[in-house]
Amino acid sequence: MCGIVGYIGDRTAWPIIIKGLQRLEYRGYDSAGIAVIDEGKLRLNKCRGRVSDLQNQVKGQSISGSLGIGHTRWATHGEPNDINAHPHVSMNGKIVVVHNGIIENYRTIRKSLQDAGYTFKGETDTEVLADFIEYIYMTQHVSAEQAIKVALNKVIGAYGLGIICTDEPDKLFGARKGSPLAVGVGQGEYFMASDATPIVEYTDKLVYLEDEQVVVLTRQGMEISDLKDVHVDPVITKIEFSADSIDKGGYEHFMLKEIHEQPNSLADTMRGRIVEQTQSINLGGISEVMPKLVSANRIIIVACGTSYHAGLVGEYLFEQFARINVEVEYASEFRYRDPIISEEDVVLVISQSGETADTLAALRMAKEKGATVIGICNVVGSSIARETHAGIYTHAGPEIGVASTKAFTSQVVALTMMALAIGRKRGKIEDARYSELISGLLQLPELVERVLKGDEHIKEVSRAYQLAQNAIYLGRGYLFPVALEGALKLKEISYIHAEGYPAAEMKHGPIALIDNCMPVFVLATRDKYYDKVVNNIQEVKARKGQVVAIVTEGDTEIARLADYVIEIPECDEALLPMLAVVPLQLISYHIAVMRRCDVDQPRNLAKSVTVE
Ligand code: M6R
Repeated sequence: MCGIVGYIGDRTAWPIIIKGLQRLEYRGYDSAGIAVIDEGKLRLNKCRGRVSDLQNQVKGQSISGSLGIGHTRWATHGEPNDINAHPHVSMNGKIVVVHNGIIENYRTIRKSLQDAGYTFKGETDTEVLADFIEYIYMTQHVSAEQAIKVALNKVIGAYGLGIICTDEPDKLFGARKGSPLAVGVGQGEYFMASDATPIVEYTDKLVYLEDEQVVVLTRQGMEISDLKDVHVDPVITKIEFSADSIDKGGYEHFMLKEIHEQPNSLADTMRGRIVEQTQSINLGGISEVMPKLVSANRIIIVACGTSYHAGLVGEYLFEQFARINVEVEYASEFRYRDPIISEEDVVLVISQSGETADTLAALRMAKEKGATVIGICNVVGSSIARETHAGIYTHAGPEIGVASTKAFTSQVVALTMMALAIGRKRGKIEDARYSELISGLLQLPELVERVLKGDEHIKEVSRAYQLAQNAIYLGRGYLFPVALEGALKLKEISYIHAEGYPAAEMKHGPIALIDNCMPVFVLATRDKYYDKVVNNIQEVKARKGQVVAIVTEGDTEIARLADYVIEIPECDEALLPMLAVVPLQLISYHIAVMRRCDVDQPRNLAKSVTVE
């Protein structure tokens, strides 16, 4: 969602901020803007559209100034247009704000400011906040820092903020509540951003602000305090990825790069955790809560989107190998349902970004109710990673494409390792089966590599369906969540309406949709459901539907029935999701490219959904 970049130092701020905004484009946005203090004066540029449109706006002009803030906006309050784009400048030009999040009580504040004579240019909550800070600054005769704190003490909602006060042109202010903000620490210079991607090429030293903290950055140093004015010592962490890892690396799109990275990302998730010689699984991040997991009556898995689909695979894994009762919940439903949670429960939250607002809120609620909360996150130092009692990092590396791919397979590997480790400790899995699965996990990177080698054929299959208007995805058992994931991938990047179903559910409704224009993607590998799924394929063909079947290498039976088959290597059915999802990711990718869709930044979508 929205992205913030800020800079203070000796270099020219504009190019650093522009590049930072480009780094944040993956989060999804519809307008962009930058404010810099240029020779003591505020210089503001903003527009609807892309960061490149902003660059065009100032083509040929030289913009100096070594302090500034920039923003990419994903519209919540007010349509995406030039006026509603950030930064917002207060009525008397003293306060300039970029903001991620939502100020929920902005209407009340707006009304009181109107009564005090303020007028507004746009419809955003952020403009109201800029005016509110200015009003306090001017009427209470306090410093900008104090005015910010007074205002934020009265604000209800979520914010990540970058703020400039034109009367104090050598200070850059930041604040955070519920929306991430990080400060990069350089030599006599500081960087501010919603995540580490705009910062990594300048420094690997990062300070994450906590909720209700305000940072004041000058060229001489950094001062953090909370909203009650209590000083906070900054905790400096190290950025764990390199600047290279956030480039396309020769691929046309980040999504394609990330799909192809899966052999490595899977190996990285397992690295140091599975020891082949001793057949052991060491999950250091959850070792302290292992007794709780082993004795848990119930695990509630909470997540959104693709992470929710990984959670569904987790349900099968935990039930089969650890014999623990599992429920999987959409975070947005779970958090508002007043669910029954006790201290005996373990809540497992899954999130690539670690910043998804609903998942974070669900985590907090579960903690308040006394549950042990464990996380599976990709982004190191993210809010969810920091607020859970314990957790596992997936170490899949930065995922920039909005459509989640390598994060999914790494989440499923992390869940598999957890299920096996717990099952072993609970004595619910036989040694031979455990060893078989350990070997299977270690072979996965190589098997995924083999699936990727079939990409040319997958592209040809995709060509046949580039004009489809609807699609159905069917799978059973471990492959049912993969069917859901395949459908989600197709709809989010190619805008084709797609639905995933357990294959046996087809007869309960979706079969009515089948005609000769309907592609049906069937996960039909040789597992215990094989014969039943073959029947489903026959039912589709009897109604002239188009069948694309994902089958086990060497399957000739389905090849005779289906319109197209895509082969994947034979592997244990519990590990199949990590293999079977790959052709579905590639199909969505190719169809989206053929339809000329913006693969990495699909319309209306944001990479991390930091508002509910
Ligand atoms: O960062 P998270 O894993 O918490 O994100 C959850 C969803 O927003 C995310 O998976 C979304 O559905 C993706 N666009 C799917 O590709």
